[in-house]
Amino acid sequence: MSLAAIIYNLDGVITDTAKYHFESWKWVSKQLDYKLSEKQNLKLKGIGRKESLEKILKWSGSRISEAQKQHLLQMKNQMYLEFIDTMTPSEIFPGFKKFNSSVKENGIKVAIGSSSRNAIRIIDKLDLVLDFHAIVDGGMTEHTKPEPDIFLLAAEKLQTPTSSCLVIEDSQAGLSAAKKAGIKGVLYGEDKGLKGAQLQIKNWEHAHLDKLNDLF
Ligand code: G1P
Repeated sequence: MSLAAIIYNLDGVITDTAKYHFESWKWVSKQLDYKLSEKQNLKLKGIGRKESLEKILKWSGSRISEAQKQHLLQMKNQMYLEFIDTMTPSEIFPGFKKFNSSVKENGIKVAIGSSSRNAIRIIDKLDLVLDFHAIVDGGMTEHTKPEPDIFLLAAEKLQTPTSSCLVIEDSQAGLSAAKKAGIKGVLYGEDKGLKGAQLQIKNWEHAHLDKLNDLF
C-alpha cells in the first residue's frame, strides 16, 4: 500500500477563516444575549453551519423557532461572506502552495474535504481552484464532519481507495471523520489535545512528504 491521495481540510489547514467565523458566531450569540468564548468557538471547528448553531443554542440555553434559526443562519452567513469577500491569495498559509505542488509532482492526487458550504467561494478568492483534482464541501453530502461522508465522497471523486488516502485536519471533528471513513489522519497546527492523528505537521514550511509516505 502506498500514499495515492491527500484530502486537505480547508478552514484552518490552508487558510485561517476561524477568526471570521468567530466574529460572525459572536454576533449570533449576542442576539441570544449570550457571550461566546474563544474556547467554545474552537469546538465549532470542522462542524457544519446548522450543527454549530445548535451547539450555541444549547450553550446559551435558548429555545427559538425554526424560522428564527433560519434567520440567524442567514444573517451569520451574510456577515461571514462580507469577511470572505475581502480575502486574497496572501491569506494562504505560507509554504502550502509549494508543498502541494511537490505532492502533485510525485503523482499523488489532492482534494479539499470541507464541512463549509462556502469552501468553493474561499478557494476561488485564494485563487486555488486549479490546484486540486476534486473539491467536496458541506453542501454535497447528507452529513458533515464528524461523520465520514465528506471524506468518502472525496476519495470516490479521486477514484482512490480510502486505504491509500491521507486526511490533513486541524479539528477533532475532522480527525474523527477520517477515522470513521477508514482514512489515516494527520494533525495540522499546534494543537496538542486532539485524538486520532498518526502524525503532526506544525506548519507547511516544516512539512515533509517523505514522512507522510512513511505512514503507509
Ligand atoms: C461551517 C460552520 C463553521 C465551521 C465550518 C467548518 O461553515 O459555519 O462554524 O467552522 O463549517 O469548515 P460555513 O458553511 O458556514 O462556511
